[in-house]
Amino acid sequence: MRRFVLSALALCVSVVAQSSTVDSYISTESPIAQAGLLANIGPDGSKSSGAYPGVVIASPSTTNPDYLYTWVRDSSLVFKTLIDQFTAGNDASLRTLIDDFTTAEAAIQQITNPSGSVSTGGLGEPKFNINETAFTGAWGRPQRDGPALRSTALITYANWLLANNNASYVSNTLWPIIKLDLDYVSNNWNQSTFDLWEEIDSSSFFTTAVQHMSLRQGSTLATAIGQTSVVSGYNTQADNLLCFLQSYWNPTGGYITANTGGGRSGIDANTVLASIHTFDVDAGCDAATFQPCSDVALSNLKVYVDSFRSIYSINSGIASDAAVATGRYPEDVYQGGNPWYLTTFAVAEQLYDSLTAWSKAGSLNVTSTSLAFFQQFSSGVTAGSYASSTSTYSTLTTAIKNFADGFIAVDATYTPSGGALAEQYGRSNGTPVSAVDLTWSYASALTVFAARAGNVSASWGAAGLAVPATCSGNSGPTVAVTFNVDATTVEGENIYVSGSVGALGNWDTSSAIAMSAANYPTWSVTVNVTASSNIQYKYIRIQNGAVTWESDPNNSITTPASGTYTTNDTWR
Ligand SMILES: *[C@@H]1O[C@H](CO)[C@@H](O)[C@H](O)[C@H]1NC(C)=O
Ligand SMILES: *[C@@H]1O[C@H](CO)[C@@H](O)[C@H](O)[C@H]1NC(C)=O
Ligand SMILES: *[C@@H]1O[C@H](CO)[C@@H](O)[C@H](O)[C@H]1NC(C)=O
Ligand SMILES: *[C@@H]1O[C@H](CO)[C@@H](O)[C@H](O)[C@H]1NC(C)=O
Ligand SMILES: *[C@@H]1O[C@H](CO)[C@@H](O)[C@H](O)[C@H]1NC(C)=O
Ligand SMILES: *[C@@H]1O[C@H](CO)[C@@H](O)[C@H](O)[C@H]1NC(C)=O
Ligand SMILES: *[C@@H]1O[C@H](CO)[C@@H](O)[C@H](O)[C@H]1NC(C)=O
Ligand SMILES: *[C@@H]1O[C@H](CO)[C@@H](O)[C@H](O)[C@H]1NC(C)=O
Repeated sequence: MRRFVLSALALCVSVVAQSSTVDSYISTESPIAQAGLLANIGPDGSKSSGAYPGVVIASPSTTNPDYLYTWVRDSSLVFKTLIDQFTAGNDASLRTLIDDFTTAEAAIQQITNPSGSVSTGGLGEPKFNINETAFTGAWGRPQRDGPALRSTALITYANWLLANNNASYVSNTLWPIIKLDLDYVSNNWNQSTFDLWEEIDSSSFFTTAVQHMSLRQGSTLATAIGQTSVVSGYNTQADNLLCFLQSYWNPTGGYITANTGGGRSGIDANTVLASIHTFDVDAGCDAATFQPCSDVALSNLKVYVDSFRSIYSINSGIASDAAVATGRYPEDVYQGGNPWYLTTFAVAEQLYDSLTAWSKAGSLNVTSTSLAFFQQFSSGVTAGSYASSTSTYSTLTTAIKNFADGFIAVDATYTPSGGALAEQYGRSNGTPVSAVDLTWSYASALTVFAARAGNVSASWGAAGLAVPATCSGNSGPTVAVTFNVDATTVEGENIYVSGSVGALGNWDTSSAIAMSAANYPTWSVTVNVTASSNIQYKYIRIQNGAVTWESDPNNSITTPASGTYTTNDTWR
């Protein structure tokens, strides 16, 4: 008994010490982060010269790496932070900037770019020049989280305007922008995408999670403003997305596999970021939407954090139940593969969000899935439900608050005097690495500080959703494409078309589409393929099972939004 009292007292002393360290970091870093973020927004930001009004630069860094561009993802997350501040009533002066952002994004949506035009896939383009022109270099495109995040930011603003008697601005100005993004999400979510780190082309948890949220919010907004024609379509695809979202859970590993491709472990900050950016306090600890305090998200968090304990030397010697620096994913080699400020803050944010949700519920649940997470804080804890009046609840939540503060303290340790936040800090010496003044780093500091204060974003409708029993995909609307190719052949030889989409066999020659020689030497076939999409294809000859490809390059077409399309090719 005496021993217990002493150790509880010791814990209490260290908790208080850490908490006051973090309090003091927040009080100095908070205004620096707010100013650092605003400095990176045109036209008046002190570090964003040349950026058009409302355009967010990713970082002022122009070499190694050159981040002087505007990314739809980063900009939308940054403006979601500002819109949350504005709608909470904290800073009325942000309104002009938010209106500038709206104007800038409306223009950016219309820019024809390497992903297409506004109606043929261009909304999936990840980044633009800061003067609102297309970036035409090679890049990992498309990235389909951008339209979802942008619509979430604008819907949050729209809901505030509706509550403040300005429905006309919502219907006339915001809704057309939001609808373009949501139609894109609704039509294209079931196609592959580059992930938020712009490296892997497959399906990605973060993208699926934010797409799901955006369609739920969009359907509610559409109902509120009488745009009812889109509601059932958005709801259907939201249900499909929620179903698909479940497939990322890896029960054996106890974590969320971040991407379906890429050949890595799949342990990735992608999943932690998805959890904090889709937090809905009204949904409690719902596992279907991977809420921060759900057993699946907590199990995932432990696996994610632990994956960095032994690989960064700045983490060596830290107890296995204490906070460490974390990065994007353990296999990362970009700029040396280092801890990131924003990923380490995200761990703390997920924990603070959990504490807020448990406090609201008046209890917390330990399940077999989350047991290993909770045993970090109390080795003897067992599965069960613990009301806020129990000592187990107090012990766990006190330790978890302290654990969360630890992640802020780690980032604080590696924040240079002056408070500037770069993208990363060195895995072996903790000095800032890569892009300076990363706008997203500043936004992540502001959102974790708000979460620690118990502040929450508006609910988006995550509560009480039912996961459909069977999952359906959505290829979106299709158009009939007729492939014609002039090819002379010998007896027994046939022509097929093979290409980059499922309807053309995904380049698998055994699934290539047989063509008809009814108009020899023109071979022909009509295939239904996704509207408004870019397709690569080639013709192949097959004789007695032997495949001959036509020569490079791949043929490429962009399908129309509706109607039909005919190609007229000659075998190369
Ligand atoms: C926009 O910026 C790009 C990249 O810096 C530059 O190449 C282009 O000339 C600029 N276009 C205009 C119209 O200013
Ligand atoms: C509605 O909001 C817009 C955007 O801030 C503003 O320009 C407009 O003056 C507002 N209208 C009313 C009636 O408040
Ligand atoms: C705990 O589990 C019960 C039973 O499944 C559930 O009704 C309750 O919402 C859960 N509470 C929390 C905070 O997760
Ligand atoms: C939390 O919200 C309150 C009320 O909107 C606000 O005054 C405060 O600055 C917020 N705290 C943080 C750290 O964002
Ligand atoms: C499309 O949806 C189906 C059903 O959920 C899923 O099995 C498939 O992996 C999805 N494909 C992509 C690229 O999202
Ligand atoms: C293409 O779609 C149309 C309309 O949905 C359908 O009638 C037709 O059978 C489809 N053709 C093929 C080859 O699947
Ligand atoms: C054609 O597409 C395939 C599959 O994406 C790719 O491996 C190949 O490199 C492409 N060929 C050329 C010449 O770009
Ligand atoms: C292919 O030929 C048909 C019939 O002449 C024509 O309608 C169609 O526009 C042509 N397709 C292209 C891409 O030029």
